[in-house]
Amino acid sequence: MEKMWAGRFQKALDKEADDFNSSIHFDCKMYKQDITGSMKHAAMLAMQGIIGDDDCDKITDGLQSILDDLNSGALQFDMDAEDIHMFVESELTKRIGDVGKKLHTARSRNDQVAVDIRLFLRDETAEIIGLIRNLLAAILEQAKAHKTSIMPGYTHLQRAQPITFAHHLLAYAMMFTRDITRLEDAVKRMNYSPLGSCALSGTTYNTDRYFVAEQLGFDGITLNSIDGVSDRDFCVELMSAFATIMMHLSRFSEEVILWSSWEFKFVELDDSYTTGSSIMPQKKNPDMAELVRGKTGRVYGNLFTMLTVLKGIPLAYNKDMQEDKECIFDSIDTLKQCLKVFAPMISTMNVLTDNMYSAAQKGFINATDLADYLTKKGMPFRSAYKNVGQIVAYCIDKGLVLETMPLADYKKYSELFEDDLYEEISLETCVKKRISAGGTGLDSVEKQIEYVSEFIK
Ligand code: ARG
Repeated sequence: MEKMWAGRFQKALDKEADDFNSSIHFDCKMYKQDITGSMKHAAMLAMQGIIGDDDCDKITDGLQSILDDLNSGALQFDMDAEDIHMFVESELTKRIGDVGKKLHTARSRNDQVAVDIRLFLRDETAEIIGLIRNLLAAILEQAKAHKTSIMPGYTHLQRAQPITFAHHLLAYAMMFTRDITRLEDAVKRMNYSPLGSCALSGTTYNTDRYFVAEQLGFDGITLNSIDGVSDRDFCVELMSAFATIMMHLSRFSEEVILWSSWEFKFVELDDSYTTGSSIMPQKKNPDMAELVRGKTGRVYGNLFTMLTVLKGIPLAYNKDMQEDKECIFDSIDTLKQCLKVFAPMISTMNVLTDNMYSAAQKGFINATDLADYLTKKGMPFRSAYKNVGQIVAYCIDKGLVLETMPLADYKKYSELFEDDLYEEISLETCVKKRISAGGTGLDSVEKQIEYVSEFIK
């Protein structure tokens, strides 16, 4: 196929070089945005008297028929085309004749691709936000069911203090609410139209960039034409937000994997989100969670690809920038896939509350509460801390736990110990008495549930 820019050349592009140069096989994903952008551009050209109204109507109808045919599958992408922009333009000219050649007035592929990718990312981000909301709904559902289910809370993966399963899950909910706001922030900064920047320096035509921007749902226009065509900061920002979401999903996956091991047995994943082994008949593997953890690597890698592509390119457009697409498309596809399986995996997960509770009974996780007991009776905290440390060592030596050590033994460590200590160190009391704002106590957990429910409304 002859290139649209063939005029200046005596020889055709080498076949291998042509394939190397072409981006249609991935930028075809942006066909809707490309066509929509072109329709608004044509409307602006007509409004400003740069093309006639008749021409604009023909162009608009032609573009609409291409869009319809691509949507229905009646039209296939021509993989010999250089990119989506060239494909649409040549298809348009095929359909409506020479009038189609007027569309590219006062425009360059440099600002065209910049507008397409912003529109595309805006649509995809909205979809991703919807998927995170679904995940938040799944977490909420489990949290509501486990407001009083006690489990050990960990630091250093050592049993630390009793918490409720709801409180633990809601920590993830907080991360995902922040992820949504991070995406929204990035979109706010991205939502300015570069169309009309043209190749790099603007144009001699009397265009109305504000009109096109408004028509395409942008909040304004980019103010510097060189920046308009060279900026991919929004890709970096979004990919960094995507990487953060994957990091959160990966940490959550790691816990789900641990919790479903025989060593923990805190949860059992539903059959529909686990797999078996080809050799070991007893196995039920948390593959979905492992894959999410594994795929986090490629989303991190894609962010680094993007940063590296940009780091050495001079202003304004350079072909390096075509490399922005595959990495960000891959991050989006990966993230969407992960969110789509993760949410139902969480909502169908069976929580084994008895096992969580018995794990909480081991490991002296109420030792802080015993120290607080002494402190509230007048002993300075540091002394109480030391005192309880000695008691724990004694218990370990005698094969006791704090609940089973006799009062007479306690008295040897401090006269402040009375019979009420047992009530004070029961797991239920430990959780109930965590009344500080944001703690694991019931009031705080209910506030968190309310916050997240409001957030996803
Ligand atoms: N396919 C190109 C890209 O994705 C479109 C812009 C091409 N511009 C140019 N001057 N060659 O970046």
